[in-house]
Amino acid sequence: MDSMNHRITLAKRPVGEVADDCFAADDVPVPSPEPGEVLVEVAWLSIDPTIRGWMAYDTYLPAIEIGAPIRSGGLGKVIESDNDAYPVGTTVFGMTGWQQYSVFKSGLQVVSDRVPPEAALSVFGTTGLTAYFGLLDIGRPVAGETVLVSGAAGATGSIAGQIAKIKGCRVVGLAGSAEKCAWLTDEAGFDAAINYKIDNVRRAIGQACPDGVDIFFDNVGGDILETAIGHLALRGRVVMCGAISQYNEEVPGPGPRNLGMLISKRGRMEGFIVLDYLRRAGEAIGELSGWVADGRLAYKTDVVDGLDNAPAALNRLFTGANTGKVMVRL
Ligand SMILES: NC(=O)c1ccc[n+]([C@@H]2O[C@H](COP(=O)([O-])OP(=O)(O)OC[C@H]3O[C@@H](n4cnc5c(N)ncnc54)[C@H](OP(=O)(O)O)[C@@H]3O)[C@@H](O)[C@H]2O)c1
Repeated sequence: MDSMNHRITLAKRPVGEVADDCFAADDVPVPSPEPGEVLVEVAWLSIDPTIRGWMAYDTYLPAIEIGAPIRSGGLGKVIESDNDAYPVGTTVFGMTGWQQYSVFKSGLQVVSDRVPPEAALSVFGTTGLTAYFGLLDIGRPVAGETVLVSGAAGATGSIAGQIAKIKGCRVVGLAGSAEKCAWLTDEAGFDAAINYKIDNVRRAIGQACPDGVDIFFDNVGGDILETAIGHLALRGRVVMCGAISQYNEEVPGPGPRNLGMLISKRGRMEGFIVLDYLRRAGEAIGELSGWVADGRLAYKTDVVDGLDNAPAALNRLFTGANTGKVMVRL
């Protein structure tokens, strides 16, 4: 164990794109666990778009304090323990933050050592749970329906689309490059994929979804959301998972101008936060692991090495450099 704890902290709140000067690095003494606490050595970090929001303002969690480590999910091993729930050597997931060592009294999930870290942080982590509960609980797919997914080659979108296929739906993805579209149709089993950067998106959705969109699983928001609403089928549902196109905007973009479509189509739009589903994680992980084992659910990861590269890893989500789940290996 090192004597110092290397950390990446919040230097200033982002305005627009997250710039390098929003972050600082420091080394502080490794914290000593108090009675009932454990010390975790962090090995992997989950890099999520929501971190950008936590850096900037209060969301469903309070904003990160200036000078504090960047808040983030992380995976690591218990190396000191005064808590029988987490003996030394246990692999755990929790809100470790961007640092080498983190202290906990509670709030850790035990992770089986048989699960590779890449899978624990993606398909069996909050990403997989988001796709699973967002699609099934909020979208409520029925076999034969058409599901459109934005951010489809990303971590959450790719899993949501594949679950929709498993449930017997026709699935169309929106992604930002020809390579991503090819991966969706050739490897992830999507029925069609649209490159929203070059295609006429409105027309392409109309061609790919001739009977309309029964479920729009939205990771992107903004113009794409408005366009998709324009294609809703009767009793269509919009699963509001995320709105990454808006996260760097200082002034919120105008809402979709065609919300009246929800009236004529008897449609529904509903948001959710995966944290509300954590108590049902076992149910989801059981099904997701069966599908992965059967070869019906593929997942891709985008691994960046080194704690000091965590800021660059976060930016990959906003430039679209990633296909699949972004994570940092310390
Ligand atoms: N509700 C919840 O509880 C919950 C939980 C986790 C995640 N989420 C949300 O789910 C979404 C996906 O998260 P993730 O972790 O799986 O990330 P991800 O999809 O793996 O990565 C983000 C992707 O978004 C796309 N993107 C970035 N900027 C864009 C823009 N301006 N317009 C259109 N697309 C853009 C990029 O793909 P392209 O190359 O295709 O543009 C990029 O690869 C995010 O909105 C996130 O906030 C919600």
